[in-house]
Amino acid sequence: MLLIVGGGIAAYKALELARLLRKAGVAVRPILTAAGAQFVTPLSLGAICEDKVYSDLFSLTDEAEMGHIELSRSADLVVVAPATADLMAKAANGLANDLASTTLLATDKRVLMAPAMNVRMWQHPATVRNFEQLKADGVHFVGPDEGAMACGEFGPGRMAEPSAIFDAVMALLEGAARPLAGKHVVVTAGPTAEPLDPVRLITNRSSGKQGYAIASALASLGAKVTLVSGPTALQTPAGVTRVDVETALQMLEATQAALPADALIAVAAVADWRPDEAFGVKLKKGKDGPPAIRLVENPDILATFAHEGPNRPKLVVGFAAETNDVEEHARAKLARKGCDWIVANDVTEPGVMGGAENSVLIISRAGTERWKRMPKEAVAGRLANKIAEALA
Ligand code: CTP
Repeated sequence: MLLIVGGGIAAYKALELARLLRKAGVAVRPILTAAGAQFVTPLSLGAICEDKVYSDLFSLTDEAEMGHIELSRSADLVVVAPATADLMAKAANGLANDLASTTLLATDKRVLMAPAMNVRMWQHPATVRNFEQLKADGVHFVGPDEGAMACGEFGPGRMAEPSAIFDAVMALLEGAARPLAGKHVVVTAGPTAEPLDPVRLITNRSSGKQGYAIASALASLGAKVTLVSGPTALQTPAGVTRVDVETALQMLEATQAALPADALIAVAAVADWRPDEAFGVKLKKGKDGPPAIRLVENPDILATFAHEGPNRPKLVVGFAAETNDVEEHARAKLARKGCDWIVANDVTEPGVMGGAENSVLIISRAGTERWKRMPKEAVAGRLANKIAEALA
């Protein structure tokens, strides 16, 4: 994270904050304002952060190593402690006349401020206005606390204690790393196997790899994941609850039982048909010759849960394995099944079906995204991030 240390007596507490963060393994890159440097020295801040202290917007050497724009985006979180009335005013109004304020204007990352100032300054209508504006802009705040101040007055304006700022930082970093925390996602994966008799079945070549990789990627973003899986040779990914099924009918039932969910990702290669009768005993060769197998259609699991209703997951994603006119077929599938996205792949490409790589199109009503060929884990990671954005 970036730690912007503003100019206030509370700046000494920023050193303790940096120490706590470093102890917890957080990389802290410090920016010290000119006013901040009146209270703590670059040497102590840099030593505690174990990083170079940035303070000059127009430093040729700093800009050559890491420009201020890059600096503002290099972290997962920007923390301002102490956030002085001046820094808050600049940030609320988009001023950028030093490195700290320019960084705050240029960043696309979350910002946490720990205000610290005299009680009259905190209660001044200008600061109240800036505080409201910053909150409306999405800035997070911790403190200020109420108590005796260095200036001898009493009231709100004391910077929150380093331990409280530390807790707020960790909660935000955790949130950044786990954007799907609190969300439930159901993933169907693998083939289905439709029995003909106790020893024979109709199935397909799906390995389940892509579905399992997606379940794993979603879990690592913090989602509670239920993986409804047909028969595969794969290990259950860490943090995923797996429900094993064989047939399409069982998959439908298990998916129903797993709902409600925030998203349903239907990756399974569900058999479109099943033998209309599964014999209880093994079919034998005989004088009548080979038996005729009559097929009946399986329910469409994706379409069933994509339909509008009180229990419809907010996001329903289907997969399409196509061999020709991929985009056209996939777009038709999107409309027919009523899902939000179709992830389409060309299974005639060597190494896709059962293999380690995939090259996909993401089709939605908004348009088509074409992803270059990459390992199935990379497709899964990117898709999980896109799902997290859609559910945010
Ligand atoms: N699917 C499903 N239940 C089925 C069939 C398919 O949930 N009975 C889901 C798959 O998990 C996948 C999507 O629907 O997400 C696409 O499946 P696909 O078999 O390619 O589509 P079909 O409807 O069979 O269309 P086509 O016959 O044109 O391939």
